[in-house]
Amino acid sequence: MNYRKLGRTGFEVSDIGYGAWGIGGKQWLGGGDDESLLALRRAIDLGVNLIDTALAYGDGHSEVLVGQVVREAGRKIYVATKVPPKNRVWPAAAATPIGDAFPYDYILACAEESLRNLGLETIDLLQLHVWTDAWVERDEWKRALEDLKRSGKVQSVGVSATEHDPDSALAVMKTGLIDAVQVIYNIFDQAPEKHMFPLAMERNIGILARVPLDEGALSGHFSESTTFPPGDFREWYFRGDRKKQVVAHVDALRRDLGEGAGIPDTALRFCLSHPAVSSVIPGMRTRRHVESNVALSDAGALPREMLAILKRHAWDRSFYC
Ligand SMILES: NC(=O)c1ccc[n+]([C@@H]2O[C@H](COP(=O)([O-])OP(=O)(O)OC[C@H]3O[C@@H](n4cnc5c(N)ncnc54)[C@H](OP(=O)(O)O)[C@@H]3O)[C@@H](O)[C@H]2O)c1
Repeated sequence: MNYRKLGRTGFEVSDIGYGAWGIGGKQWLGGGDDESLLALRRAIDLGVNLIDTALAYGDGHSEVLVGQVVREAGRKIYVATKVPPKNRVWPAAAATPIGDAFPYDYILACAEESLRNLGLETIDLLQLHVWTDAWVERDEWKRALEDLKRSGKVQSVGVSATEHDPDSALAVMKTGLIDAVQVIYNIFDQAPEKHMFPLAMERNIGILARVPLDEGALSGHFSESTTFPPGDFREWYFRGDRKKQVVAHVDALRRDLGEGAGIPDTALRFCLSHPAVSSVIPGMRTRRHVESNVALSDAGALPREMLAILKRHAWDRSFYC
């Protein structure tokens, strides 16, 4: 396992982290806690030391599982979690008053709830789960995050950028107040390379590359007849003719990459290839996926010729609305 600096935090995080949305048990269905715990423990055994969770993932259930394995790990595991918007509206709209999403007392109360779920004394990285730069001048979020840091309940802070709109977090990155940003970055959405990543490198801000497999579209197993358990988030995300669109894009990718290039492996190595990325955080609820993904840390960056091919596969669309 290779480790990278998470911006200016001083944390040396595994370049393959663990995305813990899927193990929450509410939005992603079909797994079970026993398998999730085995997957988390395997990841830690193999050198993963960064786990990204959120209070909203299964209403705290993901945090409970993460806390359990972190407490038993016997070495430092960095936990990143998130404060959900009070109005439960994803993504944030510029017109939304910050008081509807992140009032001061609410941010503090959520951090306390996350600490209880995790069973830990401090949160290594606390992120606001939605963000709009329209809030950048407001005081509430700054005071809350600074007070949490001062109290030692939180070590570093960040925001989660809006889906497919990395530029909506550039102003907050320029405040000097945040340590990390998490952003969608994958073969289809390469937009952060344009403005966000250069700014992150200039300001020494950590980057967590989220949704690296496009919610499973880049798993390599996706077909037009793929089904999901009723009520699973992916039923909605891949609704209508979207599976057909995905298959067409992945087929084109396969043709260009040639036989032998695994789609999920290429997708994760694509993320590792950018120096601004501190850690890529795939969701992986099974030991099998943990093992194959962790192995990619040593494979490292993709050759330049392959990155040039992948440039052509950027796909400008949003399935989140
Ligand atoms: N707004 C936000 O801040 C936000 C939003 C979304 C996600 N996130 C974070 O980003 C993390 C990653 O995103 P995600 O979990 O939504 O989606 P993802 O990582 O793009 O895709 C996860 C899917 O890929 C499958 N997979 C993993 N490794 C694989 C492999 N080697 N081969 C084939 N399939 C593989 C997983 O299967 P199994 O799970 O069955 O193993 C799961 O179905 C989340 O867990 C969360 O921590 C944050």
